[in-house]
Amino acid sequence: MGSILKSPVDGPVYSLFSTLPEAPPDEPFSVNGAYKKDCSPHKVNLGIGVYRTSEGSPWPLRVVEEAEKQIHEASDINRHEYTAIQGDPEFLNLAADLVFGFGEKEGSAVSVAEQERKRVVSIQTVSGTGANRLGAELLARNVRPRCVWIPDPTWANHYAIWELAGVPHKSYPYYDASRKAFDFEGTFRTLAESANEKDVVILHACAHNPTGADPTEEQWKMLARLCKDKGIIPFFDLAYQGFASGDAKKDAWAIRHFFHELELVEFCVAQSFSKNFGLYGQRVGALHIALTSTATEVVSEKVFSNLCHLVRGEYSMAPRGGAEIVKTVLSNNKLRKKWQEDLTTMSQRIQKMRHALFNELSKLNTPGEWTHVINQIGMFTYIGLTESQVKVMTEKHHIYMLKSGRISISGLNEHNVRYVAMAIDDVVRTVK
Ligand SMILES: Cc1ncc(COP(=O)(O)O)c(C=O)c1O
Repeated sequence: MGSILKSPVDGPVYSLFSTLPEAPPDEPFSVNGAYKKDCSPHKVNLGIGVYRTSEGSPWPLRVVEEAEKQIHEASDINRHEYTAIQGDPEFLNLAADLVFGFGEKEGSAVSVAEQERKRVVSIQTVSGTGANRLGAELLARNVRPRCVWIPDPTWANHYAIWELAGVPHKSYPYYDASRKAFDFEGTFRTLAESANEKDVVILHACAHNPTGADPTEEQWKMLARLCKDKGIIPFFDLAYQGFASGDAKKDAWAIRHFFHELELVEFCVAQSFSKNFGLYGQRVGALHIALTSTATEVVSEKVFSNLCHLVRGEYSMAPRGGAEIVKTVLSNNKLRKKWQEDLTTMSQRIQKMRHALFNELSKLNTPGEWTHVINQIGMFTYIGLTESQVKVMTEKHHIYMLKSGRISISGLNEHNVRYVAMAIDDVVRTVK
């Protein structure tokens, strides 16, 4: 039964929902809302994780526009039909190939690619968030992990996703604030000492959100061995493949290492096409379950049918429009080349802005050490401001960012970078 509330105007009101607790707001979207309301001509949005051009505008990728034109001209009468529950199989093959690079390992025969492909079960999802959520649900129901290890800090939605799956979380110390770098020792020690068999560990495959600090290849190798030795289940969140370094293969290095070197470790990959194709609102993604090289076809089919069951009960199937665009690009060598050019454009602009901000702070002699701005990778940087400094950045300078001091580098451009650097300089000198 709901409860009786007093309405100030009409007297008692009844609602089933009157006792609902307040749900926590989502910080990036709230910050974005506050930015939109701000009328200052100087305002800068460093809050939301979306790519912006040097004019501060959204950028439909050129290759996406070309693929859209082709799709429009083809005018396929089936284009609005249902797909299968698992999504479009051709899209899924291309998406899985992009992650795992089947048969690309040196000296691989054609049959190797086929064997490798058989080790992966894939399903289309409602972008990266949906892939994270579906993977969490699959594990929670079937593997029943006692705990999920979430990096501290992380993309905040990981907490909500695993809470909804009913799996308790623990944190591992991802970031060493004094060195402004990935805390390998803390991560390794925590997992080695405290994680148990069948616990899940969330790993950002590249361009860690929010810190922009990634493990080195040597560190990934040690983490892989640790997962294998302890029976921990790796769960890769892959939201920035190709966007991070400009090279999709390089950004998938950790996943491919786990896949090839640890043939007896099973793991999940939540793949998003939001950032690397600029298809944010189209919700394009996939969940891949990498099985051991000894898993049978029966196991693979069981995983597949369980995933389909979960998807069918939630939303029947993921939307097809954005996946059609990604498929059109990835299946055509000419368009793939163009995609590469677009990835280079985006990743280089971000790199350029990292250097521009660093140079402006150096010119101002801003107190503190700022080399992390150029050493970190991807969309975000933990700039290193305190919560009270962030507050002044917003209230006095109209510069919007997350409370943690995470800034989205793509919100910087030639017109505002000096202004942002001067504001950072001001708060660092005047606010604790
Ligand atoms: C680490 C991480 N994972 C997943 C996502 C999911 O994004 P989407 O649902 O748009 O694919 C994001 C987006 O910001 C992210 O940063």
